[in-house]
Amino acid sequence: MSVVLRGARLTHRFGATTVLDEVDVVVHRGESVAVTGPSGSGKSTLLHCLAGVLAPTAGEVWLGPDRIDGWSESRRTALRGARLGFVFQFGQLLPELPAVENVALPLLLGGVRRAEAVARAAAWFAPLGLDGLQERRPGQLSGGQEQRVAIARALVTSPEVVFADEPTGALDTATGEQTMGLLRDLVRRTGAALVVVTHDAEVAGRCDRTVVLRDGRVVAPTPLQEGHLVDGSWREGGLAAGPAGPR
Ligand SMILES: Nc1ncnc2c1ncn2[C@@H]1O[C@H](COP(=O)(O)OP(=O)(O)OP(=O)(O)O)[C@@H](O)[C@H]1O
Ligand SMILES: [Mg+2]
Repeated sequence: MSVVLRGARLTHRFGATTVLDEVDVVVHRGESVAVTGPSGSGKSTLLHCLAGVLAPTAGEVWLGPDRIDGWSESRRTALRGARLGFVFQFGQLLPELPAVENVALPLLLGGVRRAEAVARAAAWFAPLGLDGLQERRPGQLSGGQEQRVAIARALVTSPEVVFADEPTGALDTATGEQTMGLLRDLVRRTGAALVVVTHDAEVAGRCDRTVVLRDGRVVAPTPLQEGHLVDGSWREGGLAAGPAGPR
């Protein structure tokens, strides 16, 4: 199983407060990983560091062969647009744009021609059960439909990793489960990996693996996740099957 994303000894401080403390995380291609833990335990901060939103105070972030933690803000911004997808809790769609243009936006920002971007965006509507809603504004959609539009937008660029922070937090239980199921299945179908921050045990249960944080540290590593830096090089452990190798 190849590694697509790796955080090594990730540490982040806000002022004098350490909110991530030497966290190691490995995400394999096609895998879905839930990040859980109490409020304030560092889940969003970890996601932001892994996704190049925040530059960690210390430690390394690798996306495939690229070490991104030291990249400039503008280079990380470009990387996020081209190689990563994002789904947040709510409020992520532009209210003045029709749904299909919201989905096309990352492609347009990446320089794809308008007709092609809109066509590629529209192709995501049927798989997400959104057929016929292409021209609706976000305010004319239900919460669940809005989240599915956001999922389409996260996937439209064929990202390597999709990051989701409480993607079902504003939905009722049934809609949340349906939305999470779609997110996980579609991400898997594209071959991307999914990192999803959640308070919800149901959501975590739909993922391949769970990383539990407490006070900025990983408290519940699972066998697949065992891996560590030894003298500056990465050692993987706990992989049940499959060829070993650096990635
Ligand atoms: N920009 C910031 N400046 C200072 N402190 C911050 C900042 N962002 C987060 N923190 C602090 O860092 C800690 C971890 O925050 P984080 O948002 O990662 O937690 P979380 O696990 O996502 O919590 P929640 O489940 O409530 O979303 C918290 O104590 C928080 O107050
Ligand atoms: Mg959070």
